[in-house]
Amino acid sequence: MRNAIKEAMRRLAVRSHFGGKWFSHRETTRPHFSGSGSYWEERYSSGGNSGRGSYGELAEFKAAVINQFLAGHRLGSVIEFGCGDGNQLSLAKYPTYLGFDVSPTAVTQCRGRFTKDTTKQFRLLRDYHGEKADLTLSLDVIFHLVEDDVFADHMTKLFESSNRYVIIYASNTNASPQCTAPHVRHRRFTTWIQRNMPQWRLIRQIPNKYPSHGDSTQGSFAEFFIFTRTQPSEMPRPSCVLEE
Ligand SMILES: C[S@@+](CC[C@H](N)C(=O)[O-])C[C@H]1O[C@@H](n2cnc3c(N)ncnc32)[C@H](O)[C@@H]1O
Repeated sequence: MRNAIKEAMRRLAVRSHFGGKWFSHRETTRPHFSGSGSYWEERYSSGGNSGRGSYGELAEFKAAVINQFLAGHRLGSVIEFGCGDGNQLSLAKYPTYLGFDVSPTAVTQCRGRFTKDTTKQFRLLRDYHGEKADLTLSLDVIFHLVEDDVFADHMTKLFESSNRYVIIYASNTNASPQCTAPHVRHRRFTTWIQRNMPQWRLIRQIPNKYPSHGDSTQGSFAEFFIFTRTQPSEMPRPSCVLEE
């Protein structure tokens, strides 16, 4: 009986996070959460996708912000950590792009989807060997990094691989509602950046066009945060809303 109630609550949390839609049958019958990497591989290999944030109006909003940023800056290359199934990427206008993902199925899907596009390459995260780009991206990934060491590794790679700018699209709070799905953990990542990457400063924070207002079936709890390297002579600034 207790197990049945627990399973019903887990299903409700997963359904709630993905906007009331069942994204795959296997996802709803997954017995337990065994880690962020295996969660995503299992999800993609059983027919699931990158989630509600990578489709529809949310994907269009994300693409509009990043495409506009790229249009206003002379940037030659982009690296994304957590490229997903490639649906979000299909809306992007990047000069050259290298996408990494922890899921082999996602990487294979992206290679197939963009096989004729020579500006795009995809690799497994474990095949990251210090490549760098003008702009690095983490979109809808940070609140899926449940493990502390995985989070720290993602953040370190994200900043160390960038020559100029980092764009993060994520929630920025440590508070997680009680019914948060097991593959979601919100983090105040700006605190980590202040402590570990003091040479980087926040230059823009862009609120979501479709904020969730606490209801995870509508909109998104993520916002855009754009960082650039501080010149050696500059003191780090506080992470509040600043315009470039
Ligand atoms: C919600 S999807 C977002 C995909 C894409 N960034 C987008 O905006 O559509 C999260 C993605 O992050 C990937 N991921 C999870 N942990 C990761 C990690 N430590 N490093 C790289 N990718 C990771 C998952 O496999 C998944 O494809």
